[in-house]
Amino acid sequence: MISVAIDGPSSAGKSTVAKGVAKQLGFVYVDTGAMYRCVTLYALEHNVDCQNDEEVCKLLPFIDIELCIGGKVLLNGKDVTHDIRTQPVVDNVSYIAANKGVRLFLVDIQRDMAKDVSIVMDGRDIGTYVLPNANVKIFQVADVKERAKRRYLENIEKGIECTLEAVEKDLERRDYIDSHREFAPLCKASDAIEVDTSYLTIEESIDTIVKIIKEKVGI
Ligand code: DC
Repeated sequence: MISVAIDGPSSAGKSTVAKGVAKQLGFVYVDTGAMYRCVTLYALEHNVDCQNDEEVCKLLPFIDIELCIGGKVLLNGKDVTHDIRTQPVVDNVSYIAANKGVRLFLVDIQRDMAKDVSIVMDGRDIGTYVLPNANVKIFQVADVKERAKRRYLENIEKGIECTLEAVEKDLERRDYIDSHREFAPLCKASDAIEVDTSYLTIEESIDTIVKIIKEKVGI
């Protein structure tokens, strides 16, 4: 069983790249961000303040998350693939991700997923906390201006109104919360290999990471 951890800041293109890497290698792809988004959506749907850690934790026993092969995300059996990408979720997910109870709950599920299959798992704390013994650890970064540009164009394509400045500010805000939280913050593992994708296409990013994995584990 081989495990690959891909961590890095928001909108560095991790999930697209991780998905492509998993496909090339025939590994299962696990999007841990989707799990934090599911808890956020559930809290919002139940009118629970996402900054109230205790109240959010009371919801956890009622939450069942399924990440299907192919990318569909189910929350208590309901398809929420699109709902977890909406603005209210984006605005609140950093608070949910800073909740230690939520993290412990999700990390258990994530470790379980990596037990029996070869996986590519993307997130913020995979190499440092979830899978400290991962065979390969990648820290994927990209310049904040490039990340903002990509996210801005994605939004426009989806018909979401925004300005480039607002997108950049929001990314900086999320980077700050994710890397300054007390428990399992976003940071590069000491044994992670940094890959800067600012000026790489998706295909080049995938190829770069696949090459690193092949060299490291000899497949
Ligand atoms: O990767 P993403 O944008 O879908 O992540 C959503 C949020 O969840 C983001 O604020 C970072 C957080 N997250 C985290 O703290 N730990 C992870 N392993 C994955 C995501």
